[in-house]
Amino acid sequence: MAELSFASLIERKPVKVDLEGTPVCVTKIGEEIFAIADTCSHSDASLSEGDVTDFKIECWLHGAEFDLRTGEVLTPPASIPVETFEVKRIDDVVTISSRKSAKG
Ligand code: FES
Repeated sequence: MAELSFASLIERKPVKVDLEGTPVCVTKIGEEIFAIADTCSHSDASLSEGDVTDFKIECWLHGAEFDLRTGEVLTPPASIPVETFEVKRIDDVVTISSRKSAKG
């Protein structure tokens, strides 16, 4: 589990968060927070360094786009979706956790 402050997040400016050794890309859009794997499924690029448009994030290295809500690939060259993580928010505290561990 990783925690961060909602107030510290900047609209559509992803940040990389360490979740027990796994890098996670966390993006704020309005009042919502989305968390997907930070490592692009195409090669070894950090998605949090990419640009966000609508609910899409574009990998800076070769331009693949992923849906921040589902992790699905929207634009090649990536073809494999990225993992999504569970996000909970209580006031200013945002908690990111693995969906796998949440299921036990
Ligand atoms: S590393 Fe992301 S599109 Fe190639």
